[in-house]
Amino acid sequence: MAQQDLRVGLIGYGFMGRTHSNAFRSVNNFFDLDRRPVLAAVCARNEERANAFAAQWGYESVETDWRALIARDDIDLIDIASPNDTHHDIAIAAAEAGKMVMCEKPLGRNAAESGAMVDAVEKAGVANMVWYNYRRVPAVTLAKQLIDEGKLGRIFHYRAKFLQDWTISADLPQGGEGLWRLDVDVAGSGVTGDLLAHCIDTAMWLNGGIDSVSGLTETFVKERMHNLTGQVQKVGIDDASLFLAKFANGSLATFEATRYARGHKALYTLEINGEHASIFWDLHDLHRLEYFDHRDEGQTRGWRSVHITDGDHPYMDHWWVPGLQIGYEHTFIHQAADFIEGLSSGTPAAPTFRDALATDLVTDAVLRSAQSGQWENATG
Ligand SMILES: NC(=O)c1ccc[n+]([C@@H]2O[C@H](COP(=O)([O-])OP(=O)(O)OC[C@H]3O[C@@H](n4cnc5c(N)ncnc54)[C@H](O)[C@@H]3O)[C@@H](O)[C@H]2O)c1
Repeated sequence: MAQQDLRVGLIGYGFMGRTHSNAFRSVNNFFDLDRRPVLAAVCARNEERANAFAAQWGYESVETDWRALIARDDIDLIDIASPNDTHHDIAIAAAEAGKMVMCEKPLGRNAAESGAMVDAVEKAGVANMVWYNYRRVPAVTLAKQLIDEGKLGRIFHYRAKFLQDWTISADLPQGGEGLWRLDVDVAGSGVTGDLLAHCIDTAMWLNGGIDSVSGLTETFVKERMHNLTGQVQKVGIDDASLFLAKFANGSLATFEATRYARGHKALYTLEINGEHASIFWDLHDLHRLEYFDHRDEGQTRGWRSVHITDGDHPYMDHWWVPGLQIGYEHTFIHQAADFIEGLSSGTPAAPTFRDALATDLVTDAVLRSAQSGQWENATG
């Protein structure tokens, strides 16, 4: 297939910078696409480290100021993989310069920022997408197909958790490299925007919109030394966040995220209970979908643990042979493939910026509810 170059300018070379670079480098090896990402430039403030990253991953050039990257004529797509406080300004400038924009989640630090970002990409008419990658775990994509086919029937319950344990020590500082997630000015919120945003995006994709929420948050360690000021400062993020939700389809939900669940590193689980069937998925076992169908014959009825590795499972015909599983990094490759297919077909791949704004409206409502003690509207 004759391929057109898609010249990528990546911003940020941390955790997500690596997953995205890997996706852009690998995607054409596994998917037949009419465009080929070219690693044109990586941008980060530390030139020496950016140069080392560029050499390791094969980027053609380095920029130390994202404005200079956006000003370049040879960049088609700006990919934002830097902390949350940078997303708004970069995405709007990129859209105004006519670049396609892919942005890490959460889209903005709050729905006001995200709304302005949606306006900018829609006004400019540029392709846009947010890296809510869990939609593209084959087991989760299969769950979506089963729900859309009506296999579960009417949905009654949705339950999601995202549990970690890495901020329990009161000696852990806040702010700066690696710890910007604890600095509310950079992150926007704590686990609500960081972890629950993933759970909410998947939930609304699988089960439709969330109408209203009742939230509860806590900051267990109230002060931490700030890496950038050297001062002990108030902690502004939520360490734990729980909420009840009502979906537009009438189903009820519980969501929980924390970084204080000793023993759990990244335990994202979801369960959906319908009239006929239930589904359970666990990130630690991401290649399995647990499925219970009440319509099965009585004596052998039970939970099936389906190994999502067959050629007819979502995305799996692009990989090895049936029975061999894939992992976390593949979700980003799938997302890059879907983005490019969306460019070719003219049907934009989801989640777009507008889809991701809906998630930020819910996280804002959770934080508002935790303050007010009231149920809050989550539709904006
Ligand atoms: N989709 C997911 O599952 C997922 C997972 C982790 C992080 N994220 C999101 O990805 C984003 C980045 O997170 P991360 O874990 O990769 O962070 P990280 O701390 O590992 O890396 C951040 C990078 O951004 C760079 N950076 C910071 N400010 C910059 C600026 N002004 N200009 C250019 N570069 C700058 C840093 O030097 C670093 O290279 C965040 O928005 C985060 O919420 C998403």
